Amino acid sequence: MRKKIIIGNWKMFKNTQESLNFLEKLNVHSSSNLVYGIAAPFTNLATLTDSNHLNSNMMIGAQNCHHESYGAYTGEISVDMLLDFNIDFCLVGHSERRKYFNENDTTINLKIRKLLANNISPILCVGETLEEFESGITMSVIKDQLNDALVDVDDLTNIVIAYEPVWAIGTGQSASEEIAQKICKFIRDHLAVRYGHEMANSLLIQYGGSVTNENIVAYLSQPDVDGALIGSASLDAEKFSEILNNF
Ligand code: PGA
Repeated sequence: MRKKIIIGNWKMFKNTQESLNFLEKLNVHSSSNLVYGIAAPFTNLATLTDSNHLNSNMMIGAQNCHHESYGAYTGEISVDMLLDFNIDFCLVGHSERRKYFNENDTTINLKIRKLLANNISPILCVGETLEEFESGITMSVIKDQLNDALVDVDDLTNIVIAYEPVWAIGTGQSASEEIAQKICKFIRDHLAVRYGHEMANSLLIQYGGSVTNENIVAYLSQPDVDGALIGSASLDAEKFSEILNNF
């Protein structure tokens, strides 16, 4: 049976003190079948990965990385630098990175390969815009994003995929659980063709986009939705605890 994976994405929120306050208030008594974590700003990684503060079950990850080891890339953080912290995962290709920072499938692919080579699990985010959704081309958009992001990646064991329709992120307009199931299943079936059924069946696939405590159980009851990537509802420790304690 696949585990459930719930990750909070803090985006550009919380300084160090606010992160510590969050950890103090988090109160999770979830089952062993759940893995959960926070994708935090770079500036909080040292504090959050310090075992003095951390609940040992919680994973910590970054929200982005650069694919080169070092170089004249002002303002960037490399995977090699992330190795200074004991992080478990890194988001790659979040739609806000694609939209505001011109991230494209070529650099997303390079980031994934660099992370895998350094034993940090990439959480690859894919999803269509509202315009693409309304034109009925969601599946072909997702297929292209997957194919391009996974060039020369021949093992999915350490990868998680997050299906996040852009129109559902931060809008309160979450996709129906039927849409989430349909696209997560499509992702699994598509990857099964290239990687085989066994690997595709053990792949964890999340839904993301306006997930709250009110709708999470409906999503995670779907056979191909293994978890959620949660933005705004992960910022409040009590709300996030409630979400996690459903499982
Ligand atoms: P949201 O964000 O839960 O606030 O919609 C999701 C995300 O960006 O991953």
